[in-house]
Amino acid sequence: MPPRIVVIGSINMDIVIHAERLPREGETVIGSDLRFFPGGKGANQAVAAARLGAETFMVGRVGKDSFGEPLRLGLLQNGIKCDHVIADENAASGTALIIINPQGNNSILVAPGASLNVSPADVDSVAELIRQADALLMQFEIPLDTVAYAAEQAQAHGVLTIIDAGPAKKCPPDLLTKADVLSPNETEAEALVGIPITDLPSAEEAARKFLELGVKNLVLKLGDKGCLVAQEGYIFHCPAFRVSPVDTTAAGDAFTAALGVEMAKGEPLERAVRFANAAGALSTLKPGAQPSMPTREAVLDFLRERDAG
Ligand code: RIB
Repeated sequence: MPPRIVVIGSINMDIVIHAERLPREGETVIGSDLRFFPGGKGANQAVAAARLGAETFMVGRVGKDSFGEPLRLGLLQNGIKCDHVIADENAASGTALIIINPQGNNSILVAPGASLNVSPADVDSVAELIRQADALLMQFEIPLDTVAYAAEQAQAHGVLTIIDAGPAKKCPPDLLTKADVLSPNETEAEALVGIPITDLPSAEEAARKFLELGVKNLVLKLGDKGCLVAQEGYIFHCPAFRVSPVDTTAAGDAFTAALGVEMAKGEPLERAVRFANAAGALSTLKPGAQPSMPTREAVLDFLRERDAG
């Protein structure tokens, strides 16, 4: 039986331009290659979970505008159940402006639109779905009170709860303790515990701070340095796989979804993070957010090649 994953989160249209560098204030920079890709941290994680073999349910909102229906159809084409994707009368579809530099790194500006209307009442409408899930995945592109409420519902029923703390936001410390796994990247971790992460020692210092705040399992994403796993009395570094990225957008989403799918299947954390590192690395080899999410076969082939090499 495939694991059942519920994702409550954002659904965005990504408007992407490649540029040599970001414009400074008052400056116009000429870029190239304008493209539209389906994105949003929630929807990206749902697509990744589905391609990695999970039965996946998306809970979120789009606008009743020209982006809304294509975004919903894209999710359906990936086999994701979208009965709880609401077309919101009162808000635009979430939209992200993304600039990719020549190294494949991105800068993102998000107008969350309808995602800001994902409410505790929306969570109530999927109470039974959450109860029956093997894992609940959430991010910070919907209101934090909704994330907290859904996490409480999932925890009350013993459902594995994973919170990806992106994008960077300050949040009430007790929200961080409502998940089984909290997974920020370096900038998100800095926003949450105030420690800039520049290397492994500073990552370990931040990890210890998260544990002091009551986080149960921290999986700190470190980009090309891999990730750091921290639990009470235990810190473990899992190095990244070396690749040549063309676009790193949504690498963290591929990682979190892969972690969720593997943990929901009962894989131990150390194996799950290695699989997640591979999914994250593979996602950087193609342009766009959802189009770059890898399949399970692709991740397994990649791991076999790396093991053999
Ligand atoms: O994590 C990448 C995503 O962040 C993009 O797809 C964009 O929509 C923003 O939500």
